[in-house]
Amino acid sequence: MPLFITFEGPEGSGKSTQVRFLVEWLKERGFSVLSTREPGGTAIGNAVRQVLLDVQHAGMRPRTEVFLFSAARAQLVDEVIRPFLERGGVVVSDRYADSTLAYQGYGHGMDLGMLRRISEFATGGLWPDLTIYLDVPVEEGLRRKRKANIRGEGELNRLDMADVEFHRRVRNGYLALAESDPARWRVLDGTKPADSLRDEIEKVVSEMLFRR
Ligand code: TYD
Repeated sequence: MPLFITFEGPEGSGKSTQVRFLVEWLKERGFSVLSTREPGGTAIGNAVRQVLLDVQHAGMRPRTEVFLFSAARAQLVDEVIRPFLERGGVVVSDRYADSTLAYQGYGHGMDLGMLRRISEFATGGLWPDLTIYLDVPVEEGLRRKRKANIRGEGELNRLDMADVEFHRRVRNGYLALAESDPARWRVLDGTKPADSLRDEIEKVVSEMLFRR
């Protein structure tokens, strides 16, 4: 039974940890699972990722970003996600098209209707069955990310350098997106300890699997 789950969240929301937990949990239950992350997940997507994150590319325009993120996504959907779903697998992705709506749309103020059309085109109309949004206050998320960098985990990239106001718009954008489609979105408190979040996520996914 194909199932497409995405994780979204602002910087430092702990998505990647929870993606790992969920993938492990699903595998233990015998599901065929694939995890991906955006931007990236294919050779072409990873090359695009380098262009996007390069600190030398400070002059990159928001419109250019939209097309690069969308290009990486188009490749990921066609090469990896859709074929895996067609074989009945479960795909768990760290970010997807909602990141474009939140960051380029709400964050950079680009037209949401246009971004939705571009995303439709890039994904061939593939949207997740379930989107888990890990909510953390902006300052808390940025603090976590800086701490991780001091510990040498993860690199501080071009996209991390946007100002706090930008990240605030992104967070509010996510909350608006979640509110407008409660059937697909689950908003969870990302400031909770990783273990209790893991339990909540397993419960949400169990219920979803049970309903099917
Ligand atoms: P990454 O280092 O993967 O960050 P994170 O661990 O927060 O996912 O960098 C991805 C960055 O790209 C992140 O700042 C969000 C941004 N982004 C967009 O602006 N638009 C998009 O469509 C996507 C997929 C990501």
